[in-house]
Amino acid sequence: MDKVEIKPGIYWVGAIDWDLRDFHGYTTDRGSTYNAYLIVDEKVVLVDTVKKPFFDEMLSRIKEIVDPARIDYIVSNHVEMDHSGSLPLMLDVVPNAIVLASPRGKKGLVRHYKKELNLKVVESGETLKIGERTLQFVHIPMVHWPDSMVTYVPEEKLLLPNDAFGQHLATSERFDDEICWDILREEAAKYYSNIVLPFGGQVGKALEALSGLEIDMIAPSHGIIWRTWLPRILEEYKKWSSHETENRAVIVYDTMWGSTELIARKLEEGLREAGIPTVKRSLKVSHTSDVMADVLTSKLVLIGSPTINNSMLASMGGFLTYMKGLKPLNRIGFVFGSYGWGGQAIGHMEDIVKELKWEMPLESINIKFVPDEDELDKVRQIGFELGKKVKE
Ligand code: FEO
Repeated sequence: MDKVEIKPGIYWVGAIDWDLRDFHGYTTDRGSTYNAYLIVDEKVVLVDTVKKPFFDEMLSRIKEIVDPARIDYIVSNHVEMDHSGSLPLMLDVVPNAIVLASPRGKKGLVRHYKKELNLKVVESGETLKIGERTLQFVHIPMVHWPDSMVTYVPEEKLLLPNDAFGQHLATSERFDDEICWDILREEAAKYYSNIVLPFGGQVGKALEALSGLEIDMIAPSHGIIWRTWLPRILEEYKKWSSHETENRAVIVYDTMWGSTELIARKLEEGLREAGIPTVKRSLKVSHTSDVMADVLTSKLVLIGSPTINNSMLASMGGFLTYMKGLKPLNRIGFVFGSYGWGGQAIGHMEDIVKELKWEMPLESINIKFVPDEDELDKVRQIGFELGKKVKE
């Protein structure tokens, strides 16, 4: 795979990680890419680097274009090691290159690599003329780290936003119109729901700050480059960042001896009767990071676990801890479960829903041991009632 010229004189020189399946706890079934970009002007600029094991791959692509010794600047839009991991190795090749980073980026890079870097801090809005082109830096704190910034090239209408608009997707194609939109949307949604979701307010501000810029290409640090589906992905980001959902439901649960599973099935039946598209996710077989992609778009989230040792199953405890950290807002919540004697799981699950400030319009279901036919029929009716609430 060669370098790819994405605009005249601007190249993708990143790396493809076909085998990545776990990105700090997020399952990446389609692998990922670490995108770095080389801008060749009077000055030569490398924007971001790649994860450390992929340094040689990036360097070989740079060598196809210029002698790496010609690099004048390395922009570090974001400190996380999937983008800065190769920075120390790159500086061994070009020791005189100046690293450009936000103030927090500088602090983060020093903490990561424990050495003084030839580094210049760039303020938000600052510009740097590199020949015919200009680089403009805009800080986007907490999208998704405090150090995060974007680099904008006005003459090319090109935005290099690092993680924002990314997808974990390993492909030999580099552009959105070379891949089916549904796959891109699915991976962008999974990425947003697992990485960016807690920072909706900051994403909204970043979108506002960027709205005044003329942009015809967004080249993120993971996955494909947006050039055709820009309006669609921007529209999705607007929805996701404002916690806008669809009239859909996700039932996430685990079961011990099958009673909570029976309740989940009946709830799903009721929701289906009410005409609400519903996904049923057993935590025995579904990964939390996949469930979060359903939570991203679902107005109704149903949470179920039996009681065990005065609490819920550990799988549900793990899921709720993860989801609480990602802070999806403005949902309708519903809690259900089964128990033998104490029944405390319900209260613990409700506590999380309350912390997220979700509405809970209907009382939780907590059934002793095994539900009977009458109880299951009532559960189905509750599913139907919940479906009506979704449509209100
Ligand atoms: Fe792709 Fe926040 O690193």
